[in-house]
Amino acid sequence: MLNLDSTPTNMTTHPTQDRRILFLFPLALGSFFLLGTVRVLLDNLKNNQFQFLWQSSFSRDNNKFLRVPINVTLDEVIEESCNVFEGQWVWDNVTYPLYKEDTCPYLVKQVTCQRNGRPDSLYQNWRWQPHGCNLPRFNALKMLEMLRDKRLMFIGDSIQRGMFESMVCLVQSVIADGDDSIIRVPPRKIFRIEEFNASIEYYWAPFMVESISDHATNHTVLKRLVKLDSVEKHRKLWEGVDILVFESYVWWMHKPFINATNWEWKGGIDGNCFNETQPIRGPYWGTGSNLEIMSILKDVINKLQINVRLLNITQLSEYRKDSHTSVFGERRGKLLTRQQRSEPKAYADCIHWCLPGVPDTWNELLYGILLQDYRNH
Ligand SMILES: *[C@@H]1O[C@H](CO)[C@@H](O)[C@H](O)[C@H]1NC(C)=O
Ligand SMILES: *[C@@H]1O[C@H](CO)[C@@H](O)[C@H](O)[C@H]1NC(C)=O
Ligand SMILES: *[C@@H]1O[C@H](CO)[C@@H](O)[C@H](O)[C@H]1NC(C)=O
Ligand SMILES: *[C@@H]1O[C@H](CO)[C@@H](O)[C@H](O)[C@H]1NC(C)=O
Ligand SMILES: *[C@@H]1O[C@H](CO)[C@@H](O)[C@H](O)[C@H]1NC(C)=O
Ligand SMILES: *[C@@H]1O[C@H](CO)[C@@H](O)[C@H](O)[C@H]1NC(C)=O
Ligand SMILES: *[C@@H]1O[C@H](CO)[C@@H](O)[C@H](O)[C@H]1NC(C)=O
Repeated sequence: MLNLDSTPTNMTTHPTQDRRILFLFPLALGSFFLLGTVRVLLDNLKNNQFQFLWQSSFSRDNNKFLRVPINVTLDEVIEESCNVFEGQWVWDNVTYPLYKEDTCPYLVKQVTCQRNGRPDSLYQNWRWQPHGCNLPRFNALKMLEMLRDKRLMFIGDSIQRGMFESMVCLVQSVIADGDDSIIRVPPRKIFRIEEFNASIEYYWAPFMVESISDHATNHTVLKRLVKLDSVEKHRKLWEGVDILVFESYVWWMHKPFINATNWEWKGGIDGNCFNETQPIRGPYWGTGSNLEIMSILKDVINKLQINVRLLNITQLSEYRKDSHTSVFGERRGKLLTRQQRSEPKAYADCIHWCLPGVPDTWNELLYGILLQDYRNH
């Protein structure tokens, strides 16, 4: 199947004290282990991408939290009844973007669309507005307070790296100069915030299970091989991490090249995301977002004796055909050449996202849910 946009889903789960129990977690194409007993709150899934997140029960570290309690005001609380994934994008050039592309030093060139020459920047000014409630505004200090003495790890492929970088940029503005750093320990990137004894990490494991694409930079795109039953190698690296966010888009791409001929979107000169400057106003559901597979995964996860939270960000991402890197990103580690840019039909990347952009909203949702959880514990 060819998927022309990336619309991941998130899942959160909560390990309890018992970290020894292993669960086999079969997914559509692979399998992996969850560490610990976790609480599953499933909200969504999509065929071409899925993200899981599981977080430590905040009660485990109550002492730490009592040290610096976070004031969660009533308007920051997402009501349990509200489906935050149903809503619309609203124009907001007053409070968005939440950070500036050129003031966040940690973005990789794949996502810095402005620096790469994208002429419009409207894509940075949209806010996700759920129908039934408001999302709390992202508060970097509160996020860091929740991460105090903790590790948050994003695991997956390059789409997931976008979410990692977004989170780093979202919190980075409030950190004193010199108090933060990114260490590269391929295939990991570790963003440390000393003052909070916290780290936000990225772990390149595109298939989650072992594969020949596990090297951060030297990996084949054309001939990928995976070991379906082998999660051991990666598991070691995420063991003991407090909050894990999983995603893998590459499972669902079987072609080495991005097919940018997106007949679904019609707009643009080639019917892909090139030259798109406005989100799709719903209803719209891409054919790449397979509801059948989504419902299979939902069933599988529901049968597990664990608690996971799956954030259904498929729909909201689907609307954002304007926010992809298009010809202002890179291909195989290199920015597109002028010549390639002039051939959007062949070269537009309608999978990755510009930052600031849509991944910030995934993190706002993540933040909102962590805050909700923090308050409930
Ligand atoms: C995710 O959201 C979409 C659109 O709102 C919905 O159709 C789908 O059923 C949801 N998926 C799950 C697993 O809840
Ligand atoms: C939380 O609110 C209380 C009461 O308004 C205030 O005394 C305290 O300083 C606040 N704490 C933080 C971390 O803002
Ligand atoms: C924000 O958007 C409004 C409505 O489109 C426009 O009138 C205004 O000039 C914009 N402000 C800035 C700073 O771009
Ligand atoms: C820092 O956090 C780690 C957990 O990520 C914890 O094991 C360690 O004790 C903390 N250090 C301090 C000084 O609190
Ligand atoms: C990349 O990986 C291949 C296969 O493992 C290896 O033969 C090659 O030497 C590596 N290249 C570099 C630059 O490390
Ligand atoms: C690209 O996608 C279109 C529409 O699905 C399809 O007709 C075409 O054959 C695809 N091209 C390649 C090279 O896969
Ligand atoms: C992009 O779209 C604008 C307005 O829709 C159009 O005027 C312009 O020619 C397009 N640019 C290219 C390179 O297709």
